[in-house]
Amino acid sequence: MDLPRRPRRLRRNAATRALLEETRVRVDDLIYPLFVKEGESAESVPSMPGVKRHSIAGLVDECREAQAAGIRAVALFPVTPPEQKDAQGSEALNTDCLVLRAVRAVKDALPELIVITDVALDPYTSHGHDGVLNSDGTDVDNDATVEILAKMAVKQAEAGVDWVAPSDMMDGRVGDLREALDESGHTEVIILSYAVKFASAFYGPFRDAVGSQSAAGNAYLDKRTYQLNPANPRESMMEAMLDEDEGADILMVKPAGAYLDIINEVAQSTDLPVAAYQVSGEYAQIHAAAEKGWLDLKATRDESILAIKRAGADLILTYFAKEIAREQG
Ligand code: PBG
Repeated sequence: MDLPRRPRRLRRNAATRALLEETRVRVDDLIYPLFVKEGESAESVPSMPGVKRHSIAGLVDECREAQAAGIRAVALFPVTPPEQKDAQGSEALNTDCLVLRAVRAVKDALPELIVITDVALDPYTSHGHDGVLNSDGTDVDNDATVEILAKMAVKQAEAGVDWVAPSDMMDGRVGDLREALDESGHTEVIILSYAVKFASAFYGPFRDAVGSQSAAGNAYLDKRTYQLNPANPRESMMEAMLDEDEGADILMVKPAGAYLDIINEVAQSTDLPVAAYQVSGEYAQIHAAAEKGWLDLKATRDESILAIKRAGADLILTYFAKEIAREQG
């Protein structure tokens, strides 16, 4: 054939392909989410193969291994014992609550590791919602919730977290968190906002892991009055821009894999760094198919994370973070 262009020349061998690779995932881009529980022993999470609920001591070991592999940041999620949950999520404001003890232990042992905590009430409420309910119990009360979240963020800052991550989707919470942090002298604490968080079915395994689904009982935990409709890209952009105006330092999109268009649009519309969360259901899907021998685990894992990076995410939260760091290191 007489062809003026033969694009396959650019893909002929490994060296050429490496030279021309346009997107690369760095270990520095990855944030490692971890679960922590009370007691001395670890438990595995059946719907998330390889993921554990760690004791505090086990968590510190896991963080040490992750850091040694090159991971720079972890996001901690507590598994609150059911007897400590109530309708107000009061345990969230206990200075000695599980996650704050965990933060102190990790920061003591590994001061350089960036520690991130979620600001939302779902690990603490008996109904499993991210905030407190209104008087007739029909919906989450926005303003009453934001007041609690601001106090929670200050407690987290006092315990030594580097970044707080509001994951609740209440209106106005980023502004209130920034103000509360600044007024209490924590101007250096970064707000990683779950700015664009969808009401997604992909959170199922996470809700098993932290027990927010079992708190809700048999009813599907419906968060659609605060989390975004997966059908709405324009509303997503409005949420992202509001959080930027309110003072968020980093904007996050969640989940990641099914929302690459949204990640891309947010990345094009802001000068802030953009993060994306490859959530529990995305992790579980890949593992489940690999267990059946239907997909190759590592190849699928790497392609899924590459796609998130290519879409425009600077940072990626993924349960695969440590194993990827180990393989690259
Ligand atoms: C709750 C929270 C959720 C996740 C992180 N923070 C779940 C939810 O909104 O129900 C999900 C993470 C995952 O699925 O991996 N504020």
